[in-house]
Amino acid sequence: MKNIRDKIQQLTTGKDDNMRKIIFAISVLPLVLAGCGYESCPQVSSDPNILNVHLVPHSHDDVGWLKTVDQYYLGANRDGWYGWEEVQRAGVQYTLDTVVTELYYNLERKYIQVETAYFWRWWNQQDQETKEIVHLLVQEGQLEFIGGGWSMNDEGAAHYAAIVDQMSLGLRILNDTFGECGRPRVAWQIDPFGHSKEQASLFANMGFDGLFFGRLDWRDKTRRENELEMEMVWKSSQDLGLNSDLFTGVLFNNYGPPDGFCWDLLCNDEPLMDHPLLENNIDERMEKFSEYVLKQAKYYKSNNIVLTMGMDFHYQAAHSWFMNLDVLIKHGNGFKVGERELNVFYSTPSCYLQSLLDSGISWPTKTDDFFPYASDPHAYWSGYFSSRPTSKGMIRDAERALKILTQLAFFTKQSREKTLTLEKLKQTVGVIQHHDAVTGTEKQHVTDDYHRRIHLALEESFSVFSLEQNINICNMLNISQCLVSENLEDNLAISVYNPLSRDRTINIRIPIAEDGTYTLQDEIAELIPTQILPIPEHVLSIPGRNSYAKFELVATVENIPPLGFTNLILTKTARNPPKPVKKRKTTLFKLSNNKVQLVYKHKKNRFCLTDKMTGKESNFDLDIMYYVGHRGNNSEFEFRASGAYIFRPDGDNPISFGPPVSVEEYPGELVDELHFKYEEEWVNIIIRTYKTEPLIEIDWTVGPIPVSDGIGKEVIIRYSTDIENNGEFFTDSNGRQLLSRIRDYRPTFEINMTEPTAQNYYPVNSKILIRDEAGSELGVLVDRSQGGGSIQDGSVELMVHRRLLDDDAFGVGEALNETEFGVGLVARGKHWVLRNSEPEVATAEHRLRAMELFYQPLLIFNSQISPEISLNTSVPENLHILSLERIFPGFDPEGEYLLLRVEHIFQVDEHPIYSQSTTLNIRTLFSGLVIDWVEETGLAGNIWKDDISRFSFQHENNYIPVYLENTRREKDGLEFVIDPMEIRTFIVKYSF
Ligand SMILES: *[C@@H]1O[C@H](CO)[C@@H](O)[C@H](O)[C@H]1NC(C)=O
Ligand SMILES: *[C@@H]1O[C@H](CO)[C@@H](O)[C@H](O)[C@H]1NC(C)=O
Ligand SMILES: [Zn+2]
Repeated sequence: MKNIRDKIQQLTTGKDDNMRKIIFAISVLPLVLAGCGYESCPQVSSDPNILNVHLVPHSHDDVGWLKTVDQYYLGANRDGWYGWEEVQRAGVQYTLDTVVTELYYNLERKYIQVETAYFWRWWNQQDQETKEIVHLLVQEGQLEFIGGGWSMNDEGAAHYAAIVDQMSLGLRILNDTFGECGRPRVAWQIDPFGHSKEQASLFANMGFDGLFFGRLDWRDKTRRENELEMEMVWKSSQDLGLNSDLFTGVLFNNYGPPDGFCWDLLCNDEPLMDHPLLENNIDERMEKFSEYVLKQAKYYKSNNIVLTMGMDFHYQAAHSWFMNLDVLIKHGNGFKVGERELNVFYSTPSCYLQSLLDSGISWPTKTDDFFPYASDPHAYWSGYFSSRPTSKGMIRDAERALKILTQLAFFTKQSREKTLTLEKLKQTVGVIQHHDAVTGTEKQHVTDDYHRRIHLALEESFSVFSLEQNINICNMLNISQCLVSENLEDNLAISVYNPLSRDRTINIRIPIAEDGTYTLQDEIAELIPTQILPIPEHVLSIPGRNSYAKFELVATVENIPPLGFTNLILTKTARNPPKPVKKRKTTLFKLSNNKVQLVYKHKKNRFCLTDKMTGKESNFDLDIMYYVGHRGNNSEFEFRASGAYIFRPDGDNPISFGPPVSVEEYPGELVDELHFKYEEEWVNIIIRTYKTEPLIEIDWTVGPIPVSDGIGKEVIIRYSTDIENNGEFFTDSNGRQLLSRIRDYRPTFEINMTEPTAQNYYPVNSKILIRDEAGSELGVLVDRSQGGGSIQDGSVELMVHRRLLDDDAFGVGEALNETEFGVGLVARGKHWVLRNSEPEVATAEHRLRAMELFYQPLLIFNSQISPEISLNTSVPENLHILSLERIFPGFDPEGEYLLLRVEHIFQVDEHPIYSQSTTLNIRTLFSGLVIDWVEETGLAGNIWKDDISRFSFQHENNYIPVYLENTRREKDGLEFVIDPMEIRTFIVKYSF
């Protein structure tokens, strides 16, 4: 291979860039093709006396944590907590430079690059020659992409729609730039704080052959070590069967090197010294090394082990690592301990995986997930499920905006340039899925930077649509503020966009001032019914709110087309104040919609809920409470403090805010509302029932959380009813599969009652439910990720906000003590409560309503949009168009292509009708364009479905998948069958 390098040198010296490119393409590339991936793996021995030690130099470059993503890239802001000298010496731009040089001069060396956000930024700054060298290194398998998402996303607080988008972004770029050799074969989640089943299923369906990670419950790890279950086949979806089997390996030492064998400039270990006459430590070091690897090997089934040689932001001066690894390999190879002999070499996770496959071993299986993660008896990482609630809310908004804007750019036939403007938002959504972003475990200044990035990316994206009209999005509607509507003089055009692929009736709320009466009309001048409600005092006084609006106009807009608009005109007709709303002084309050009636008895602080369909009555309680955050200096496990990562209440009985001190009732034609005020003015609840919606909306506002009493507070809302759930409850996995949870129990290991509350908290991205044996259900849907559980039978609770006074000593170095406008941060959000007594109705409701909550409508003010392309009809209710975006694939960047993803939103056997396989015809889906061809790809859109062939590992408990294997079942060319929980991805070539 060396001669290829010489040849490049020889051929390209003195040539200009274009010439070099041509020479490279015709003379060099053909020589090196077919040397990457599994083909470039080193020889391993199958002799059981030989231990194959795979050394894996790897990147772990967080896209924001103690420093912002820019600071990390450039190496700026050298103050912070980390390692030596209290400084995080992190500059990713140096890493790739030095790694490439080190690889280039030694053909044996390998390196894996994980985070595509950083790689792409670096790549775009390189000259042609460097790019050619990198191409060469990739084609030869020396530089390998692993993971390959834009970031290494979190698995607890990230929603699947965003995970799919962020993985797709990274993987498509890699395929477009490097082709087949740029395709990561192995998923690599070495740092996220717990691992979800849905994430594994998504990875399998992206075509990954395996997954490695570092963090799992310490007791689970011990048990797995002792029972040789560190490596397994994860049956990650009952619905998708074999298609979602994923080989999963737990790394031995998280993702760091063996103690004493860290040779980065950021480490303090002695170099390996083997000079015969001068300083020499090689015998002693090799002794230690062999001890370590033989110990590790005891916990794994095959005669291969992997050593992760790297840590956060290592390889900025790559030669210090590589020089020592060269010496380690030189002395390690053939090193004998009794009968055993070592075989030590540079490797990659994919080569390690290949050697496991080749070993022919049969592996244990796993069907549950790895949540919550605990790192010691008092450190349950279930705090981050709720940390930074406003940040989590904003992230959800950005994800939704990305979905909507990519659709709009396509439907309104934006130019290539304008469509490409949305890349920035796509990249931002990728960054904020990172395991220190959506988790809320970064420093405050980094949070501020994420928010700034989201804001700028959204502004830039919306600017695409505002050339003809001066459109306005009113991104402060969450605090009932909107400049254009509250300052209205005469008329205001409003487009309401429905991001669901079925038609739908939507209740919208528009902030208005108090000096007018209003009418709302649709395109054909028909009046839309409206109702006026006061904005409660606690919202008017949210710090930073800057608005004249004292009222909200509620309107029920019927039958908005799928992925389409209804255009409205709001007119201020008179300068009279709006009709006064009804208020009564009573102790019995009523709310209702077409589904339930709620009677609230203030004296008992209890609701009586009647299901209008069945006439069944049940009790319903809503309690707002807080846990006292444990304080501590973390010097011992018992002195752990509750913090950004961990939830550790001081005592397991939350303190209730008691019954509301006052209740106001606002009945109406479209919506009924109760406004609850509590003795503590910093918690407030509005309860609403829209007549067209079969659910109860809880609008919560919490903050500023006072901490002057020296007590950190973790605020929850607990919903209770008379359901006997016997300790079982259900939470979603990244918003998709529903998993059963049993209080104080883990399916694969024993837990001790060290943290009776925190150990029963799970991530909730979409819903939490309890059921009784008859299938009667209480469910709560969330508008952002939160932690929740069923700590008492008959109830579910969700943590909505937390403010704490101590750091929990997992690296962030700050207490989670968010302030804004000089006071504690105020958060406002929504829960949708569902109460159904029949199992089928219950399932249909929680699946369908969860989609509605995620895909809330977008209101565009000052605009009347008429798309040039549209959906012909609603997609069946159990399907959803998850992605619809114009792409510019590497194979034809100027052409007209659409990335289309269709998902089935039900699981097998959940519902007699909705759970059935459903057909979608792509030919007749759109009006306004012609479909030239459709080709199916893997889930991330980076590989053609026909080219996917995944490793199939032997495993124990070979069970029959619930659902039949399906492979590209199609009828008639463009009709596709979508099975329960399946997501099918297509690249569609179209023309006009
Ligand atoms: C991936 O890249 C290869 C090589 O350029 C190309 O042939 C293939 O079509 C690409 N796949 C997709 C799905 O874009
Ligand atoms: C549980 O706690 C008991 C008593 O502290 C201890 O003996 C036991 O080893 C613990 N079990 C686990 C699985 O940690
Ligand atoms: Zn990390």
